[in-house]
This record gives sequence, structure tokens and C-alpha cells, in this order.
Amino acid sequence: MRISPETVQQIIQAADVTEVIGEYVSLKKRGANMIACCPFHNEKTPSFYVSPAKGIYKCFGCGKAGDSVRFVMDIEGIGYPEALKHLAKKYGIEVTEKEVTSEQQQAQNEKESLYIVLEFASKYYQEQLWKTPEGQSIGQSYFKERGFNHTTIQRFELGYSPDGWDAFTKHALRNGFSLEILEKAGLSIIKEGKDPIDRFRGRVIFPIHNVGGKPIAFGARILKKDPNAPKYLNSPETAVYHKSYIVYGIQQAKNPIRIEDNCYLVEGYTDVVSLSQAGVENVVASSGTSLTKEQIQLIRRFTSNITVLYDGDAAGIKASLRGIDIILEEGLNVKAVVFPDGDDPDSFIQKVGSQAFREYVNRTQKDFIRFKTEISLKDAGNDPIKRAEVIKDLVETISKIPDSIKRSVFYQEVANLMGIEEQILVTEGNKISLKKVADSEKERQRQNRTQTQQVGDIDILVERTEQVPLPIQEEKAENKRSPLSYQEEECARLLVCYGAHVLERNVVENIDFTLADYVFNEIRDMIFETPTYEKILSVFRDAYKSQQIPDTSLFTSHQDNEIQQTVINWLSTPHQLSENWLKKDIYIPSETDKLADLAYTNVLRLKKTRYESEMKKLAKQLETAQTYEEQDQILMQMMQMKEVVKKIAGLLGNVIQG
Ligand code: CTP
Ligand code: MN
Repeated sequence: MRISPETVQQIIQAADVTEVIGEYVSLKKRGANMIACCPFHNEKTPSFYVSPAKGIYKCFGCGKAGDSVRFVMDIEGIGYPEALKHLAKKYGIEVTEKEVTSEQQQAQNEKESLYIVLEFASKYYQEQLWKTPEGQSIGQSYFKERGFNHTTIQRFELGYSPDGWDAFTKHALRNGFSLEILEKAGLSIIKEGKDPIDRFRGRVIFPIHNVGGKPIAFGARILKKDPNAPKYLNSPETAVYHKSYIVYGIQQAKNPIRIEDNCYLVEGYTDVVSLSQAGVENVVASSGTSLTKEQIQLIRRFTSNITVLYDGDAAGIKASLRGIDIILEEGLNVKAVVFPDGDDPDSFIQKVGSQAFREYVNRTQKDFIRFKTEISLKDAGNDPIKRAEVIKDLVETISKIPDSIKRSVFYQEVANLMGIEEQILVTEGNKISLKKVADSEKERQRQNRTQTQQVGDIDILVERTEQVPLPIQEEKAENKRSPLSYQEEECARLLVCYGAHVLERNVVENIDFTLADYVFNEIRDMIFETPTYEKILSVFRDAYKSQQIPDTSLFTSHQDNEIQQTVINWLSTPHQLSENWLKKDIYIPSETDKLADLAYTNVLRLKKTRYESEMKKLAKQLETAQTYEEQDQILMQMMQMKEVVKKIAGLLGNVIQG
């Protein structure tokens, strides 16, 4: 491994699970735990639990579980060493960096290589801006003209791409990156028979970061007025950049959004940067495209309130009204603000300053439904046909709100604004809901029919099974388990969860006899047949042999995900959730009260099942034995074992009766 074990330990200890996960979702306190809506699958009520004391998380919806490192691996889609480095960076822990070439060779997958080259590019563009004469005179002076100060430029990691054909591409090649990865990252353009060139040339650079703060794409603005060139050039879609899944500025805005419990949604990169510089930091941009469900779900991790800030042009607003329905559909509360004609949030805040800006927003912001009603009504005037259309349209919008109480409030309000009976709206809304139910039923039936034909859709199918584990499948897997595997699981579980529990105390010699002492004294070097439990047992045994009874964190932070998941499942079994039971005044003896019994019976059962399966094997051998002598020998062995099994059964019987 490239990172020393001491550094790994240091990182694991520093990486507080609530802090790390809190970067990606808003956690709320619930008893001893923190909860949130799971970032790995789509849900509206939280089933994602984080235990600060144990340093672990577990989603009871999709089953994902692990510690801080595992979380970063899963959410960023990167391997173990990269996740450690990511955390080391966050906590200012020094990890000796290898040269880029070897790092790239060691990248565990394509995503990882892309992150590395994108980070490299972002640093390059920033260096160009700060350290080269061209960057200083052209790039910096442009930002200055736009009113961005140094701190802001650094905070958003803005940069400059020099005005040549291939300055960056050459630089990256010299540093060991391959043309293939440069093209895959959208940084270089390769055309047949021509030399590769840079995608971004002579532009200022706005890096787009993912929630964890890694650059995943770039937006590049032209500097001169050129009607033939696009104002912004953006990275293409890549394996790490899906435009419709990200909003610009989320890295810088996520904490402010959480604190303010509100998110301002604007259109452009410069709106985000300007507002943030002026102290309105809870702001992200959709980057000029229509909103998607996934973008809203990303914002919903941090707040359920969105205020849309519109540029002051009437045509633009009308065109984008429909797009807001998607926010309502996801169950968020939406307000809208329109700036004076000709202004966007950037130009307005630069003109009036942050205080007047806030006042304007607070004074003019309207609930979205009211906003839409007023605009539509103004448009329809007294034309009855147009008014009827407006009603239909508004009802359609309201019917998308998942919460029935909110819906009824809005029906009331719209009825008042339009001067019509509320019941008309409600009836209209119910029609839509009924149709939706019928449609989705039809769709379901259609899907059932075509399920087997969808071979082309593998990606989606795979993702689905990953995200929604079917309980039936689990049950089937359980049924196939051998009796021995249950005993092995119980043995490993007792060791991991209660290994250090003292069963007997020798006061005279001051020696404690622990559960681990007892179990290992009984099972010695027994090797488990179930690979998972054998892995756990041997990790435990290694630690035990060096005179340590390992802490559960050795397993919950283990690099092996199978070990991690299994142990986290043990830690979140009903035994651990007995709080609820206690509330109901039912006494359940806690597990620790009967550990001695549990360990004793487990060891007996473990031995018994092993002998039994050994006897089965002997019985098979007996069938194929060639000589009488051989048969006799096998029979002898079987008899002996039968005796032992009988004895053990007797002991077990005593325990159960006693
Ligand atoms: N946009 C784009 N490509 C374009 C024009 C716009 O990708 N050719 C996106 C950018 O994300 C831009 C947003 O749409 O930030 C809003 O466009 P616009 O209002 O024209 O840009 P501003 O961010 O306001 O930029 P500026 O103030 O520098 O004109
Ligand atoms: Mn602008």
C-alpha cells in the first residue's frame, strides 16, 4: 500500500463520520443517532442512520453501510487509497504524494483517473491566472472589471486558459497523462489526422465542483465580443460529469444553504460568484439549462426551501414557469423573485449592494403558486377561454405537490385570487390525480409485459436491483445457509461484539477471563467454513494473538467491505435497538446478562454441527470404501463421533432445561 498504516489510522481517527457525511447531506439528531434521507437511493422519509459513537452509517432502505472512508468511496465512486487521500486533504494530514505518472497508473478505475487529471487541469488554469503575464494582464483584469476580488477568485478556484492551440495538452502529456484520458476528461480535442488541441483557449475558467469539492468540469467564458464564438464553452458529459445531476456552486454553498435553510437558485456562473462575494452565499446555478429532478434532489439534501431568482426579462420567466413544477413535485417549497427589467442577480447586487439586495428579495419574494397565478392572470386578462386555461394549468401544477395539506392551502389561495369556488379546483385536481393513478397502473402492466425484452437497458436494470434490495431474494439466500454457517456467524459475532466481556474474575491473581479467552481456548485454531466469518475470525485472532482484544472499530473501519457490512449489521440488530422495548415497559434481558450462556452453547453447537457434517462425509466415504479393513476404520471413527455428539447434545439439553 502506498499510504503507511500509521497515516491510515490517523486519517480514520480524524475523519469524524458525521462531519464527513454532513458534507453531502443534512443530518438531523434522533436520539443517539443522526438521520437523513439516504444519498444513495431516492427517498423522501429518512432511513439513513449515522452513529457518531460507533463511527458508522447504515441505510435501512438500500442496505448501504460502512464508515467514513467507505462513505467517500461509495459516494464519489473511488477506490480505498483515493478516498483516504480525499479525507487526508480535508483534515490537513500529510500524505506523501507520488509523482503523477505512477498515481495515474495506480488509479483503480476510470473515474479516479478522471478526477486526478481534472484536479491537475484546475491547478494549471489557476497557475496560469496568477503566475503568467498573460493570465495576469488578461484574465485577472477581466475578473477585476467584473468586480471579483482576490478572495472570491480563489474561493471559486477561477482560472485562465492561455490563448494558444495546445499549451495545456502538451503540459499534461509532459506530466505523464495519456491523450486518451485527456480526451475522456473533455480537456483535449482530438481530430483525425490533426494534432490534439486544448478545448479551452483564451478564456477565463469557472471550475464546476461536485458536492465533495472535486473539480468535475469547466465552464469557460470568452473575453472579447465575438458574435461567431459562443459566450461560454462547457466541458462535455464525461464519466464524472453529468450536467443534469449537478448545480454550479454547490461545494461553496452547501453549508450556507443548510444554515439559512434556504437555497437561492440563479441562472449563471457569474450570478453565483457575485452574490457569494456580497455575502449571499447560499446560492447555486442551474447553468442556463432547465432544471432536472436530480438537481433538485441534490439541493434537497441540504434544505427543502428554494427561492428562484429570475432575470428581469418577461419572456424568459414565462418560458421557465413550467420548469418549476419539478421542484414542487419533489416536495420542496418554492418562492420566486424577479429583478427589474434588464438586470440579473449579478448586475443588480453589484449596482445596489448586498443590503439593498436582501431588502429587495425579502420585500418582493412571492410564494411560487401565487407568483404564477398573478403572472398568468395578467396575461389572460378578461378573456374567459384564456382564464379557463389558466385554471387548468394551475390545478395541474398544484396537483403535483405531494403533501395534501399544502395542496388544499394552495387551492384555497388560488380560488381567492381568481374569484372562483375552491371546489371547482379540487374537483379538477382529483381528475388529474385519478388519471395519474390509472396511467401509472397501465405503465406498470406494460413494464411487466416487456420486462424480459429490455436487454438493451442493462444499466438501468442493474442500478435498480442495486438500489432496492428485494427482501424475497434475501430470504432465499438465507434458506440455503448451512446450520454450521449460523453457528460460525454467532461465534464471530460474540467475539467481535463482546470479546472483551469479562466472564470470570480471578481476584487473587488479578486476572480477567474474557469471552475471547474462553472461545479461543475452546476452538483453538479451528477454521470456519463460511468465508466471510473465517475472514472476520482470522482478523480477530491475529489481534488476539498479539495480546489485544480488538475494538469493533477495527471491523467497522476495515478495508474489506464484506467484513464491514457484516459487522455493522450485527451492531444494528434488534438487540441494540432495545430502547424501544424498554419504553413499552417490557423487560428483555439484555444480551450481556447471559453472555456466558450464549458463548457456552454456541461453542457446543459449533462443535456438534462440525462433527455432524464430518459424519456425513464419513458416511459418503463408507459407500466407496474398497476393503473391509477400510470400512471398519471408518465405522469406528463414526461411532466415536456419534458418542461425542451425543455427549454434547446432553450438555446442550442441560443448558436448555436449566
Ligand atoms: N450559458 C452557457 N452557454 C452559453 C450561454 C450561457 O452555458 N453560450 C450558461 C452559463 O452557465 C451561464 C448561464 O447559462 O452562466 C447564464 O447565461 P448568461 O446569463 O448569458 O451568462 P452570465 O452568467 O450572466 O454571464 P455574464 O454575466 O458573463 O454574461
Ligand atoms: Mn450576467
